[in-house]
Amino acid sequence: MPVKIANQAKLVKALNQSLGWELRAQALYAHYAAYVKGLESLTLAEHFEEEVAESLGHAKKVREIIAVLGGEAVTTRDAAPIVHTEEVRVMLEEALKTESKAAEAYQKIIPMVRGNAVFYHTIYHILKDEMTAVMEVEALLGR
Ligand SMILES: [Fe+2]
Repeated sequence: MPVKIANQAKLVKALNQSLGWELRAQALYAHYAAYVKGLESLTLAEHFEEEVAESLGHAKKVREIIAVLGGEAVTTRDAAPIVHTEEVRVMLEEALKTESKAAEAYQKIIPMVRGNAVFYHTIYHILKDEMTAVMEVEALLGR
């Protein structure tokens, strides 16, 4: 029996949007990790790899909530194109856009999960991670 929550269908749809962003983030960061060059590669490649791992963890949690709700989780990434570049600054700008979009998507989910403490806690924690990532990238960009 799936867990019942108000606006089930709307919530599953929003969770799937976030899952699509997570799947895209995995591809984006894995791609950039391979293309950072020079001195920056010492720290940035590792940072990007960590973001891949973080997105994997977020995707797992979101997928589990969708499954518990009896919904069908998407298996393909959000269609927003991934910009290929070897310029670190462009990578960081793209990372900032991605993290901001992810934070926005989770922010939309928060009011929908207020009625379930477990879901709320999980989504709130992911939102915190996304907002931390936004601040980290802004710092790397010198903002
Ligand atoms: Fe994430």
